[in-house]
Amino acid sequence: MSRIFSGIQPTGNLHLGNYLGAIRNWVSLQNDYECIFCVVDLHAITVWQDPAELRANTREVAAAMIASGVDPKKNILFNQSQNPSHSELAWIFNCVARLGWLNRMTQFKEKAGKHKENASIGLFAYPNLMAADILAYRATHVPVGEDQKQHLELARDIAQKFNNDFGVDFFPIIEPVIMGEATRVMSLRDGSAKMSKSDPSDNSRINMVDDVDTIVKKIRKAKTDPEPLPTSKEGLEGRPEAANLMSIFAALSDCTVEDVITRYGDQQFSVFKQDLADVAVENLSPIQNEMRRLVDDHDYVDGILREGAGRARAITEPIIREVHDVIGFLRA
Ligand code: AMP
Ligand code: TRP
Repeated sequence: MSRIFSGIQPTGNLHLGNYLGAIRNWVSLQNDYECIFCVVDLHAITVWQDPAELRANTREVAAAMIASGVDPKKNILFNQSQNPSHSELAWIFNCVARLGWLNRMTQFKEKAGKHKENASIGLFAYPNLMAADILAYRATHVPVGEDQKQHLELARDIAQKFNNDFGVDFFPIIEPVIMGEATRVMSLRDGSAKMSKSDPSDNSRINMVDDVDTIVKKIRKAKTDPEPLPTSKEGLEGRPEAANLMSIFAALSDCTVEDVITRYGDQQFSVFKQDLADVAVENLSPIQNEMRRLVDDHDYVDGILREGAGRARAITEPIIREVHDVIGFLRA
């Protein structure tokens, strides 16, 4: 059976892009696959995190997953640092991946910006840890947003090089699963920039914890252009803000962008935005209520993560032992 692994960083400001690009798809996959979902706290510390905030954000991401419908009994849900196999395999992959491969990673360039010399080594080696996350379970399918495609290609290269170097057929070649109508949700302030946790403008994103008034206000203020909504898919070309809002609408109402065009083509943004705010609130409110209840229940959330980590270790420990044998580490 195929095995799924995916993760989200506990870096705060969990947003609609994380929900539509990742969490919601996980919920729909959990019935057909064996799933392992991870709050990737080791990835989070590749840039500075305040310890108290890291703890709170870890619980918040776990709460968001559970509130969205991820079933922690059926699936494994845990935080990465509670399973040492991730760091261990990441070190081995540091010795497999080539400097040239990592130098091509666009996310590192974006995150490190002009201060490359000052970035942590962890930020540079981030994709090796991500490959280790997946391959420590020999997972085959990885549901993510489009921004993670390059990292997953690197993970495939690492698996392939390991297999070739040692003449084994040990790690599977993983498949990205990029699904839905909103695989790349863009900023509400700039249709050419990704909706992101780290955008300094809070109006650029809908946070999972935003209240109804805030959601409505952010959608009303979202950047648009002066034309009415397009009447065909071709009409979306060169109109990134319209394309973004229409694909968010489609994803939230479980229909296609074509359906949204049929319904709103030629109408003004004001009408459409009102309806978009309504579907956003309708989708997010129940999740938010449940999230609020869960984040305060530390015992419950911590218990889920602890139990999930135990199940996660039980899968990876024998795999790591096999990796040691393949490499030639002596088990005395
Ligand atoms: P991160 O916030 O970087 O930990 O991302 C967690 C998951 O959310 C990954 O699967 C990302 O691909 C996905 N994701 C993040 N931002 C977006 C976005 N703007 N649109 C769609 N998916 C996203
Ligand atoms: N790098 C991913 C992101 O920022 C998070 C992540 C870490 C991940 N490890 C993973 C996603 C393994 C999928 C599989 O979005």
